[in-house]
Amino acid sequence: MKILSVFGTRPEAIKMAPLIQALEKTPGMDSVVAVTAQHRQMLDQVMQLFSLKADYDFDLMRHGQTVSSITQAVLQKMDPVLEKEKPDLVLVHGDTTTTFAAALAAFYRHIPIGHVEAGLRSGDKAAPFPEEINRKLTDAMADWFFAPTQTAAGHLKAENIPEDRIFITGNTVIDALLQVTAMPEEDYPWLRDIQGKRLLTLTCHRRENWGEPMRQIFAAIRRVLLEKPDCRLIFPAHLNPLVQQQAHAAFDDLPQARIIAPLDYQPFAVLMKKSDLIITDSGGLQEEAPALGKPVLVLRQVTERPEAIAAGTADLAGVTFDSVYAKLSRLLEDEALYRRMSHAANPYGDGHAAEQICAILQEHVAPTLAGRLEA
Ligand code: UD1
Ligand code: UDP
Repeated sequence: MKILSVFGTRPEAIKMAPLIQALEKTPGMDSVVAVTAQHRQMLDQVMQLFSLKADYDFDLMRHGQTVSSITQAVLQKMDPVLEKEKPDLVLVHGDTTTTFAAALAAFYRHIPIGHVEAGLRSGDKAAPFPEEINRKLTDAMADWFFAPTQTAAGHLKAENIPEDRIFITGNTVIDALLQVTAMPEEDYPWLRDIQGKRLLTLTCHRRENWGEPMRQIFAAIRRVLLEKPDCRLIFPAHLNPLVQQQAHAAFDDLPQARIIAPLDYQPFAVLMKKSDLIITDSGGLQEEAPALGKPVLVLRQVTERPEAIAAGTADLAGVTFDSVYAKLSRLLEDEALYRRMSHAANPYGDGHAAEQICAILQEHVAPTLAGRLEA
């Protein structure tokens, strides 16, 4: 079976890496990789770390790119690759514009689609934007669904997707996290002079948070840092110039805050492990932090990852000054609450999701596709 895996951003690469590694080791699988490079540097960091090689690199990233421009570029670049490779299956991951547009290109050519991390839903088409719609549209086109959790599978069933096409596999992010946390640690310059301090890690990049919400979020965190001299902030800021500009405007004059470049995934996992708490609007961090036993304050009004909240390790902090200030102050002051949120929980899997997906591809997908060809 020839499988064309397509991805383009940092989180897709991290979460597809264990699956690509597994596919390459599985007899009977011809694995072809196309990266859109919707992200450039942040994608390359991951490709290098996991020794992934792209057979096709669309090199799409442009500063100031829009969801429309990415969609158009992916469609244009995908079609000749589909024509040349004639894959039996296209695998996409998650909810980015690369995911949606690559699936659309495959759908237009009647090529079956497997969706990894299928079925997540926030129930709000404006949040996360445009990811909620990207994932729904991708699921509308897909043929095989690798749902990370029971909840995600439930959403797919509720949308009348046949049950025999839905598989609960756990999330491959845990596979990736376990790989990098087993690697040796180094002496990281950004970790110096935080000994004896409480370390807060911040990431914030979502489109719906650009502008005023981000200004209020950063102002609230800044106020807390000023009030709590034993706290330090490390903010590996996303390379988007809009995020960089807001981050530097908010924190540059504050010695207890350190804005750094995006870290490679392995040192970032070290940073998460050393952190006392994580403040984020990221999707992936909501899955990783519980596995590491780190409380997470989620900079959103709704989340498509309710499992971490149900497990008691994550809490929605909203996106206004008042809500973020209140949630963060309380978590830093209320020791019992902090302890309750610090236990390790693993609602997103046991680190064998990639293996499971490979086995499903062999045992269920390949025979079905072969049967279809014979017919
Ligand atoms: C994209 C995804 C989002 C995902 C996020 C992960 C869409 C619409 N959004 O959002 O779902 O959560 O990736 O980080 O698919 N840039 C660089 N170098 C890089 C990466 C980005 O300079 O390696 C800058 C570029 O100026 C680029 C901008 O960031 O134009 C925005 O990148 P883009 O992929 O459009 O949006 P993200 O916010 O990264
Ligand atoms: N991450 C990383 N370096 C960083 C910040 C994040 O490797 O400096 C990892 C993080 O551990 C997670 C993924 O990037 O696995 C999340 O990416 P992002 O927040 O950009 O996207 P999202 O998950 O929100 O789609």
